[in-house]
Amino acid sequence: MIYMDNAATSWPKPRGVRVAINEALDNAGNPGRGTHSYAVWSSMKLTEVREKLAGIFNISDPQRIAFAMNATHALNIAVNLCYGQIVTTAMEHNSVLRPANMRGYCYINEADSKGRLDPDRIKRSISELTGAVIMTHASNVTGEVYDIADIGEYCRRKKVLFIVDCAQSAGVVPIDVDKMCIDILCFTGHKGLFGIQGTGGIYISEHVRIRPFMSGGTGSYSAVLRQPSVMPDCFEAGTVNTHGIAALGAGIDYIKGIGINKIQSIHNDLQRYFYGKAASVNGITVYGTEPDSGTCNTGVISLNVKGHEPGNVSTELGRAGICVRGGLHCAPLAHRALGTDALGGTVRFSMNHLNTRDEIDAVICELKKIASGGTA
Ligand SMILES: Cc1ncc(COP(=O)(O)O)c(C=O)c1O
Repeated sequence: MIYMDNAATSWPKPRGVRVAINEALDNAGNPGRGTHSYAVWSSMKLTEVREKLAGIFNISDPQRIAFAMNATHALNIAVNLCYGQIVTTAMEHNSVLRPANMRGYCYINEADSKGRLDPDRIKRSISELTGAVIMTHASNVTGEVYDIADIGEYCRRKKVLFIVDCAQSAGVVPIDVDKMCIDILCFTGHKGLFGIQGTGGIYISEHVRIRPFMSGGTGSYSAVLRQPSVMPDCFEAGTVNTHGIAALGAGIDYIKGIGINKIQSIHNDLQRYFYGKAASVNGITVYGTEPDSGTCNTGVISLNVKGHEPGNVSTELGRAGICVRGGLHCAPLAHRALGTDALGGTVRFSMNHLNTRDEIDAVICELKKIASGGTA
C-alpha cells in the first residue's frame, strides 16, 4: 500500500501517538473540573500540550492557545472576531471561504493559472474598510507555500488583523507567529502535526479583542452566567478532547524529533522528483509552480490524466493500493484559477517524509498504464 493522502490526514500515526491515547484512556479525568488525580492529570496534559504548541509556533504565552475540534472550527472562531471587510484569496479551502461568505463583506484576491498569489495585489486590495486578511499558508491543491511574512508585516503596519490558516503547513514548514506578524493562527491536529482527527486549535495574540463563539461550561468562573472573556476559557466551552490532545502532544514530539526543517526539505525533494517524472509522461498535466521556480512546497502534486476524470483515476489507483484523492479538494476557486474546475478538479498526491522515490516510481508506472489507455 502506498499512502499519498497526507493533505487529507496524515498516515501512519507514530507509535507514540497510540501510546499517548492509551495513557490518556488510563488516566484522564475531566480537565479543570476537579481536584482528584485524574482531573489534575488532564489539566496538566492540556498545559503540557499548549506549551509544546507554543514552542513550535514561537508563541510566548501558551494560554493564548485555545483547543478546538479542527482547523475549520478555529477558522469559524477567527471569522467571528473580524470587524469590517475580510480580504482573502482564491486559494483558500472552504473552511475559510464558507464562513467568510456566510458573514458577507468579503473580497477575494484571484490566483494565477499556476495557483500563485501576488503579494502586492493582496496588499493593494487592503483599504481603510478592511478589518482582516485571512489566508492560507500553503495551498492544499498545489502545495505551494506562500510568503505570508511579507503580507503579515504589511497588515501590522496598516493595523489590519492577519489571520493564517496553517492546516497544511503546521509541522511541515517552520511557523513563527512573531516573525510572520500573525495575529490569529488556526491549525488542525491530524495532518502535519501527526495527531488524530477531532483536534486542532487557535492562537490569538493579546491585542485582539475576543468574544465567545460558543458558550457553556468551562470549569472556571462558574457562578457567572456570562462566558469567561479570558483565554483560553473563552473558546473552550464544554469538555475538550483530552485524549486527542494527548495524542497531539505525542505527534509534536515526533516531528520535533525529526526536525521541521528536515521534514520540509524531504517534502520539497519528493515533490521535485515526482513533478519531474509526472510532467514527462504523455497525457499527464501537472498543475502548480515548477519546483525550480524557487518556491517551497508541502509535498503535493496535483495532476490530470488526459481523457480521464480525476475521481476515476483516484479510484483506479486505489485499486492498485495507491491512496490519493481526486476532485475539488474543498477549494473550488483554486480550480477556477488552475482551469481544472470543468475537469472535475485534479488527482492529488500528498506526500509525507516517509514516502520514497521508489514509491513515486511505482505510482508513475500505474499512471502510465492509465494514460496509455488502460482503465479509469
Ligand atoms: C488549507 C486547509 N484549510 C483548512 C482545512 C480544514 O481542516 P479540518 O478538516 O481539519 O478542519 C483543510 C483540510 O483539508 C485545508 O487543507
